[in-house]
Amino acid sequence: TGTFTYDPGFTSTASCESGLTYIDGDEGVLLHRGYPIGQLAEQSSFMEVAYLMLNGELPGQDELAKFNTTITRHTMLHEQLATFYRGFRRDAHPMAVMCGVAGALSAFYHDSTDITDPKQRMIASHRLIAKMPTIAAMAYKYSVGQPFLYPDNRLSYTGNFLRMTFGVPAEEYVVNPVVEKALDRIFILHADHEQNASTSTVRLAGSSGANPFACIAAGIACLWGPAHGGANEAALNMLHEIGRPERIPEFIARAKDKNDPFRLMGFGHRVYKNYDPRATVMQKTVREVFKELNVSDPVFDVALQLEEMALKDDYFVEKKLFPNVDFYSGVILSAIGFPTTMFTALFALARTVGWVAQWNEMISDPEQKIGRPRQLYTGPTQRDYVPVDKR
Ligand code: CMC
Repeated sequence: TGTFTYDPGFTSTASCESGLTYIDGDEGVLLHRGYPIGQLAEQSSFMEVAYLMLNGELPGQDELAKFNTTITRHTMLHEQLATFYRGFRRDAHPMAVMCGVAGALSAFYHDSTDITDPKQRMIASHRLIAKMPTIAAMAYKYSVGQPFLYPDNRLSYTGNFLRMTFGVPAEEYVVNPVVEKALDRIFILHADHEQNASTSTVRLAGSSGANPFACIAAGIACLWGPAHGGANEAALNMLHEIGRPERIPEFIARAKDKNDPFRLMGFGHRVYKNYDPRATVMQKTVREVFKELNVSDPVFDVALQLEEMALKDDYFVEKKLFPNVDFYSGVILSAIGFPTTMFTALFALARTVGWVAQWNEMISDPEQKIGRPRQLYTGPTQRDYVPVDKR
């Protein structure tokens, strides 16, 4: 019963109005507040993009300096949270830890949770953007058994994250500027992507007026799946499994086989029916990082050849399946030294900017209502209860 539009997977439902991010999937265009992603990735910084997403315009020099200071002031975690980490198994997936710790922040910041107050919303947003690198780095440190490192606010947002992840108390950590720039660029490329599954989750959770830290934990949970943010981890694992170019045709054949659930990870997108513009920048960044670190990785050659073969194959051409943002990111992240299990945690760190910007936009919308989809009921019609001894 009911006259609802049935749209599984929301392929044709606009759930909101938004002025943040524009995607033209046929043309491979991605704009944040009107600015092309390529320009932002090449010329801007993650902090600038965060400011842009939250405030609508790029910051002036003073505004950017003030924003950096504000974010810097919130980088530390409550000391009690170190105890919280110690409750996890050492082999816990960093996304499980991040989901738990981000949610636990809701128990710590009672002064920034009146979501009807724009100032408090902004404080919660700043806290989340500032604390995610600390949360992610601590998840890593905990997994390898090294001591947690406190943030060093003399460093950039991304430099600080690198140090908290790879530094040790016994030695001074020198941030490599090329690696810092590359990682900052990866963060920009992941900052927002309109109403993807995790962002929609954050909006839906937030639509009930829920605590913002808890809403972000919901976003992290959704991002973790291999069809979404988990694809960067899955893509690199797949490239390793393929191992050498001669094996590519076998995997392409598997991806095309209707009876085999295998998919090329890092390929295909709900919205892009053309090359994902983020993948273009990512591929270029691989070369820059390899040159700087004087390394090479056979999986990059596998990735390049896989892309070339897939893009010539009728199956991928007809279905318009192209490499997405996750196809090359893992190659860079592993060259920098991150284990595959951290890849999606880095995605979550960066996407926090989009999540909080979208959450703010939603709460400040006068038309905002609780998100409450309807359904097409397919269960039994009404029937009478039968006591258990009569069944
Ligand atoms: N390999 C092989 N076949 C594929 C692939 C792939 N990677 N992606 C889609 N297809 C096929 C699919 O089997 C289907 O074929 P048919 O019409 O014959 O049933 C057709 O293409 C359309 O796929 P769909 O699953 O109906 O499309 P969707 O819009 O629901 O899914 C997707 C989009 C991203 C989940 C999907 O392309 C996929 O699973 N890709 C691999 C995972 C991945 O890389 N995810 C990251 C996405 S980008 C970053 C992010 O969002 O986090």
